[in-house]
This record gives sequence, C-alpha cells and structure tokens, in this order.
Amino acid sequence: MNHFDIVIVGGGGAGLYAAMEVLNTNKSLKVAVISKIYPNRSHTSAAQGGANAALANKDKTDTVDKHTFDTVKGSDYLADQDAAAVLCEEAPRVMRELENLGTPFSRMEDGSIAQRPFGGASSPRCCYCADKTGHTILQTLYEQCLRLGVTFYNEYFILSLEHKDGKCQGITALNIKTGKIEIFPSKIVIFATGGYAKAYWNRSSNAAGNTGDGQAVALRAGIPLKDMEFVQFHPTGLRKSGILVTEGARGEGGYLFNNESERFMSRYAPEKMELGPRDLVSRSIEREILEGRGFDSDAGKYVKLDLTHLGPELITKRLPQIRELSISFEGIDPIEEPIPIRPTAHYSMGGIDCDKTGRTIMQGVYAIGECACVSVHGANRLGGNSLLEILVFGKIAGHEAAKEAQGFSTPSIPDTVIDKYTRYFRSLAGESQYERYAVIREEMGQTLADNVAIFRNAKDMKKAIEDIKTLRDRFKRVKLHDTGKVFNTNLINILELRNMLSIALTIAAGAYVRKESRGSHFRTDYTTRDDENWHKHTMFKLSKGELKIDYKPVTMGKYPLEERTY
Ligand code: FUM
Repeated sequence: MNHFDIVIVGGGGAGLYAAMEVLNTNKSLKVAVISKIYPNRSHTSAAQGGANAALANKDKTDTVDKHTFDTVKGSDYLADQDAAAVLCEEAPRVMRELENLGTPFSRMEDGSIAQRPFGGASSPRCCYCADKTGHTILQTLYEQCLRLGVTFYNEYFILSLEHKDGKCQGITALNIKTGKIEIFPSKIVIFATGGYAKAYWNRSSNAAGNTGDGQAVALRAGIPLKDMEFVQFHPTGLRKSGILVTEGARGEGGYLFNNESERFMSRYAPEKMELGPRDLVSRSIEREILEGRGFDSDAGKYVKLDLTHLGPELITKRLPQIRELSISFEGIDPIEEPIPIRPTAHYSMGGIDCDKTGRTIMQGVYAIGECACVSVHGANRLGGNSLLEILVFGKIAGHEAAKEAQGFSTPSIPDTVIDKYTRYFRSLAGESQYERYAVIREEMGQTLADNVAIFRNAKDMKKAIEDIKTLRDRFKRVKLHDTGKVFNTNLINILELRNMLSIALTIAAGAYVRKESRGSHFRTDYTTRDDENWHKHTMFKLSKGELKIDYKPVTMGKYPLEERTY
C-alpha cells in the first residue's frame, strides 16, 4: 500500500503547480501525482492563447484593478469578488515565477514578456508563448516536479475518494497498465482533474479524457458541485472537428465574416468587435448561422475567420499551431484562405465547490483548476483566465495543503474496497449486459448539443433531462466486452461514461431551473438577467442517489451589479 501525506489527482498545470509548491513549502512531505494520462500530455497543453496578468508591459496604464473588474464583468457578476481579486492580484507574481523557471515566453522588443489583446479585456494583458502557451507551461512545471522528486503514478484512473467521519482517507484507482485496483491512503487529496466539456461529445474542443471524473467522484463522496449549468462555448472551433482556434488569432487582428462578406460583430459588440467576451461572440456567430447568413457545407454550417491580411511572417511566428491545425483538419492554409469555424464546447465554469484556498467542505479535500468552482469565472470566463487560474490556485492550495498535512492523523482504507470494484467490473461483463457504451455516449453528447447549448429553452432542456435519465437507465446494461487486464480501454471508456452521465444531468438540471439569461446560459424564454431572483450560485448534491439542487449567495465586493455592454 502506498501511504502519502498529499495525493494530487491530475497531472495538468494545476496539479503540477500544486505538487511543486507542496515540496517548496516542506521538502519532507510525501506527495504523489496520480494521473489518467501522462502528465505532459494533459489538456493544459491544448491551451493556446495565453494567461492574463496586469504586467503593464504593452499597455503602461493596465492595473490589477482593471483586470479584476474585467473578470467580474465578464462573469456577468456571478464570480465571487474576493476570489476574483486573489486571481488578479497574484497573476503578476506567478507569471514572473514561471519566467524565472524558464518558460519560453514570446517577448516584446525591450525583452519583457509579450502581451496580446484577448476578449473582454480592457488592456492587452494576455502573456503568451506563440500559440502554445499551455504546452510550454506544462513542460516547465513537469521539469520542476521531476527535479523536486514528486512521485508520479501515470496512467491511473481514479475510482473513489475514501473518507471516514467527514475526513479524507485517500483514494482508490485503477492501474490502467496492469488492471490492478490500488489503494492510496493519504491525509490530503487535491483534485486537479480538469473540466467536463467533453460531455458535449461531438461538439467540443476538449481532449477525449475531459470527462468530469473528479467532479463525479466528489459528488458521489458527498461534496457539492457548483454552477454546473455554465458551460462555455469558444467562438472559434474548427468547423469539422471542433478543435480550438485560439482567441489569439483575433487578438493578432483576425476577423469574422458571414456569407454577405460582412464583419457581423459590428452589430453585436460595436466597440470590442471580435474581441467581445466569448459568450457574446459565440451567440453572435450562432445567430448569424440561424438567420441564414452562415456558409453551408457537408460538414455543417459555419462562418469564416480571416487571417490572410496578417501575412505569412506573423502567422508563422505567432500562430504556427493554428496554421498546422487548419491545414491538417480543414485542408486550409490560413495564410492563403479564411478558416471555417463554428463555436465549440470548451470550458466548464462549474465544478467542485471550494473556497479561495481550494478547500472543500470535506476535511483534507481540495479542488483546483478547471475541476473546481472557486468561483472566479462565474457565468462566463474570460479567455486567458483559465491558465491563470490553474497557476494561482494550484500554488495557493499546494502551500495550504503542505501546512495542513502535518496536523492530520494517519489515514486508513479497508481492503474491502478492492473487492467492491472487482465485483462491479465483473458484473459489467455479465450475460445480461448488452448496451454499447459508444452508442450511449454519442446520444448523450447529441442531446446536450441539441438541447443545452448556446441558446436554451424549457422545452428542449426538459427533453435533455429525460434523455439523460433514460441513458442512465440504459447504462445499467452496458456491456464490458474486453475482460483483459492490460490497457483495457473498453473499461476506461465505460467508467468515463458513468462519470459523464452524472455530470450531464447536473448541466441540464441546473440550466432548466435557472429562469434567466446570464453569461453562457442564454434562454430564449427568459432573455434577460434577473438579479433579484437569480444572482446566486447553484449547488448540486446527491441525496440517496438522487440529484438535489440548492443555492448559495455570491460574494460581492467593490463592483456593484451593472448592465453588461461591450
Ligand atoms: O483561445 C484560446 O487560446 C483559449 C484560451 C483560454 O481558453 O483561456
């Protein structure tokens, strides 16, 4: 059995920053990172455009205060303002730390970190490494974790959070390489498992592994989730695959146009144009398509993103990955032709409810990064605040956990938990099982994309809830065809689907009851924001296996509620 002081589940940027910080705070602690995929392939590597920090390198008048206000306004006033203030205050510090650790940032002429404009921001404050910012940050952090001696368990799938008398005891996980179920007693568990936007299976920028595992495990263990109905659609996904085309492309001067060659954003955000916040730009694109001003193709309707005027030099230097992706997945070179794009499910604003140190309601359990809901993004996240969040809250939670671990007693997990999962896996292969996981997964993704996407209404959302409940019933008959032990991807796909189905229900149920429009949650039957009744967080808990919804107030600060215009 592997005993630890701190187990971090997830090897993306948040998990690695936390691991690094734990050992920087107290070298004697035993810390492990347990990751479903190899850490430097985690989804942080897909974050292209950059991370915000009010360094004022490009715009000397930028301030932390402006960043905080942009974040709160971008969130449609659902962010907790104390948490948003921490995010923006800590941003310059973590960016300099990353710079000192060797992250290869793009540079201004004077050698300082380059910053580009991003959506919903009042200044160009997004720090970047060409269009591979997440990738380079992830490599830097992984290198540091190896240097510090973090123990890695790569290719392990979390099965459960173990707890006793309201206190964390550790986790159980499936070793994907051997098929063995292993126990990891630990005084503290930090969830850093990423988002759940892959529940929109067929229309998402997310990696296939972003299946809401941490959120589903926490929910089953009695920890509440928060604001799950808020799912961000990124305006520019590639038409066919939904793969991300960074907002940096618009930050560098790219623009959108419809089938009338019109820069339609002038109608929706006359001041900010293509650099409006994501909720607004995605809705505008979708409206253009719905009203017949999109382009048509076998691969669906779309609008175009034009970069041709930026020229080959800028595109190859600052947007090389976008060029590669467009060529590989659309057969289009953006130096020569505009890119066909359509909004794509990109980011989960909701997640495991936690405070601004990452602590949840269960002693010894923390959540950070996209799997957490602090909440700094409220109803709509600003581009560039996601990489920032994993850094700031990874660091804070790592430090807090390191201080707290010493005070906790030795945890224990009974071996019987292994039998429980062994029996469950065996039952999946039983003779009465016949449903195919891929069919259920496809239908789940489709009902979310059709009924709980950018434009929502009661009738459609009710249908999505019914569909998901039916799919959950069908899932009880899902068949495990491969009973092998080594790299059993059939089993992993089934376990991921189990998690996604519980998450899908929270998305649809939370959206159905919220009778207003706010940020990414836009209802055609309640088109305005209703602060009197709905300026509150949605809380999700399981009670006797049934989902229960409750509410919790938003923490206000110095920014009063205002109408949001751009
Ligand atoms: O557009 C992008 O590069 C994505 C960045 C983000 O989600 O923050």
